Amino acid sequence: MKTTLAGSAIAAFPKLTLAKTSDDFLELRAAAGEARLYGDKGGASPLWLYNDRLPGPEIRVKQGERVRVRFINELDEPTSIHWHGIRIDNAMDGVAGVTQPAVGPGESFDYDFVAPDAGTYWYHAHNMSWNQVPRGLSGPLIVEDHDNLFSGDADISLVLSDWRLDENGVLDTASFGARHDFSHAGRLGNWLTVNGVSLPDIPLQKGRWHRLRLINVSASRILDLAPERMGAKLIALDGQTLSEPREVSGIVQLAPAQRMDLAVQPTEPGTFPLEMMTGQPFAFANFQVSDGGGRDGPLSLPPVNRLPEPDLADALELPLVMQGGAMGGMRALMEDRSEDEVRKMVQDGQFWTFNGVAGMQGEPMFNARRGETIVLESRNDTGFPHAMHIHGHHFRLLEKDGEPLKHQDWRDTFTTQPQETVKIAFVADNPGKWLIHCHMLGHAASGMMTWFEVV
Ligand code: C2O
Ligand code: CU
Repeated sequence: MKTTLAGSAIAAFPKLTLAKTSDDFLELRAAAGEARLYGDKGGASPLWLYNDRLPGPEIRVKQGERVRVRFINELDEPTSIHWHGIRIDNAMDGVAGVTQPAVGPGESFDYDFVAPDAGTYWYHAHNMSWNQVPRGLSGPLIVEDHDNLFSGDADISLVLSDWRLDENGVLDTASFGARHDFSHAGRLGNWLTVNGVSLPDIPLQKGRWHRLRLINVSASRILDLAPERMGAKLIALDGQTLSEPREVSGIVQLAPAQRMDLAVQPTEPGTFPLEMMTGQPFAFANFQVSDGGGRDGPLSLPPVNRLPEPDLADALELPLVMQGGAMGGMRALMEDRSEDEVRKMVQDGQFWTFNGVAGMQGEPMFNARRGETIVLESRNDTGFPHAMHIHGHHFRLLEKDGEPLKHQDWRDTFTTQPQETVKIAFVADNPGKWLIHCHMLGHAASGMMTWFEVV
């Protein structure tokens, strides 16, 4: 297992190896720290970090290899680590209160699991995530395929994060948990960093194919990106390599927790931006292309991961209706509740429901027989988009608003716009208790979280 550490001046992760314990675990420590999120112009923000790095150290393993992490909690509050997108042993999924007790201050927990699929994944805190993740507790987890077609400095992880900064360029911590954010679009920031750096330069070489692994670790921000403007092709989504490179025109959304791998072969030396396309294009990083001299041949992709194919003819079909939230969404909740009940929900900080139920219950939303295909038809009856994540499984995106999708991609997180119906399918092949939740972390904390059990 190889890990790399975040740089400070440039956004690339230098290849360094972390000290390993004698029993071959990597140590990952969560502790208070700080970083300048607004470059030299801003003050130092109080953060919570893994190994004093922002983002946490990049963990790299080969497909099929074990990931062994000794997690040590030096924070003042309990936490845990979730390995997002990995088809993992349930006991290692890192959900505090569901798959393990939270790791208390001063305690440690050994994570030990196999990474079965190559691709771009990430890890993050999974206890009070709305408060812990946007303070810095996340990092990239890269599972290399055996051929590793994009070698060394052409394989670049870009952890994208938005931050809410005050007028001094310092993280606004007072507004964490604001009810207004939870009941609206979630906590949105006003500044973006790449690998923890404000407006970084990212070195590329002319003529070479680069793999850019974009990971959106933001608490709520959907990033509107435009790969076409960068001359880039889409090659993987949420860790899963596409069967062939895809040219995409216009805006491609990268919702919280989603990953998008791009392949780019710069044709000229010079500078080109990484832009957010919400409103006016906003450059939040610059690629600096140097004259490498060589020119790589045609792009070839690693093999696709073998995921279990859903059997749509013999599936358990279930609805997942989202209701609640501000902008009229709470009104829908009153249809099957008294005014008092709704007032009580709001007092308890619960603004959203799945199938009429707010938050985690003692009973699962459904039980699945191991190997059974599950078809979920999600309907977004709220006034906001959501980024829905299923733990432990990848699913196929089948339909939007009743229309079969041209690309029925594998994903672990899908977006749904207001009034949209999205149909997905997966094989529930992994025994255990698995969460389904919105990855807008304030939404998850205020109702949009449930679970299912595979037995
Ligand atoms: Cu990345 Cu339950 O989350
Ligand atoms: Cu949501």
